Amino acid sequence: MKAYSRIIGSGSYLPPRRLSNSDLVAELAGNGVATSDAWIVERTGIRARHFAAADVCSSDLALEAARLALQAAGVLPRDIDLIIVATSTPDMVFPSTACILQNKLGAHGCAAFDVQAVCSGFIYALTVADAMIKTGAAKRALVVGAEVFSRLLDFKDRGTCVLFGDGAGAVVLEASDQPGILASDLHADGKHAAILCVPGQLSGGKALGDPLLRMDGRAVFKLAVGVLDAAARATLAKAGKLACEIDWLIPHQANLRIMHSAASKLGIPMDKVIVTVDQHGNTSAASIPLALDTAIRSGRAKPGQLLMLEGVGGGFTWGAVLLQL
Ligand code: ACO
Repeated sequence: MKAYSRIIGSGSYLPPRRLSNSDLVAELAGNGVATSDAWIVERTGIRARHFAAADVCSSDLALEAARLALQAAGVLPRDIDLIIVATSTPDMVFPSTACILQNKLGAHGCAAFDVQAVCSGFIYALTVADAMIKTGAAKRALVVGAEVFSRLLDFKDRGTCVLFGDGAGAVVLEASDQPGILASDLHADGKHAAILCVPGQLSGGKALGDPLLRMDGRAVFKLAVGVLDAAARATLAKAGKLACEIDWLIPHQANLRIMHSAASKLGIPMDKVIVTVDQHGNTSAASIPLALDTAIRSGRAKPGQLLMLEGVGGGFTWGAVLLQL
């Protein structure tokens, strides 16, 4: 059994339809909804988002990201013995998006399941995959965050529809004697469910309740900053590391102001924070692997460096993973 799991490849994918803030403002004006590029940029840092075509599902986005991650890792689908997909926008009620992705990859037979922890989903999935590798239950895992959040948006609610987008990111995690994932920390508190939720369900062939995203933005903001800091500090303590040793902070890409606050609480300057939210908005479980892949492919995150990944989202869920690349 190996002592660690390490990331050996990453990939990410955004669907081709890109809407700048101005494009979205023009579309929303057609619905009688007033917003502006200036408001969106000032309050969120978001400048554009990508929306998947109507016939494209989370597994399609996951497939593109997964192929790139496998290619970067130099492994074939048949070399994978575990697939975990983090998503809150599965293709179907069941089977899991991980099973659908497995079939599309042609990687038949390995364990495959979804993790539902909304925007913290990738942190949860990575932690589960790491634990399974460390216990010998898996040797090489494909861990994916994939979402089509545009399907959940109420385009009459300007407080939420300007924030989200679609996308996917993936990593290949392999058992290793060399340090990789050093520590992680996961939490949830269901008492905060109502401040960020999609309070609908399927029953008798119909959507019951309200199947669109609802959010108390101010409450989410306040909670997010506090729990991100606590998770990052707990993870550092478990690994015996200090915040000043972090080379790159890769937070959930929801809102630039939340990222500023989280970095400043940890004493990390913004030039050590990976920011991609401006280019794709909040893609929920896909946001951290999208940012991670961007950091790796742009050459900023280098082998041997210390990366802190941190996420927070509906549930409420939150957590962090500290890893050596
Ligand atoms: N365009 C123009 N005006 C808007 C828009 C918009 N898109 N949305 C809201 N407003 C208006 C409101 O109607 C309100 O107007 P009023 O003062 O006349 O009533 C005014 O702006 C202020 O509204 P608030 O909701 O109080 O605005 P706030 O400064 O809190 O910003 C925001 C809203 C951006 C959602 C903020 O609360 C936030 O960032 N929250 C965090 C939420 C988040 O990032 N969620 C992502 C999902 S959760 C996660 O991933 C962790």
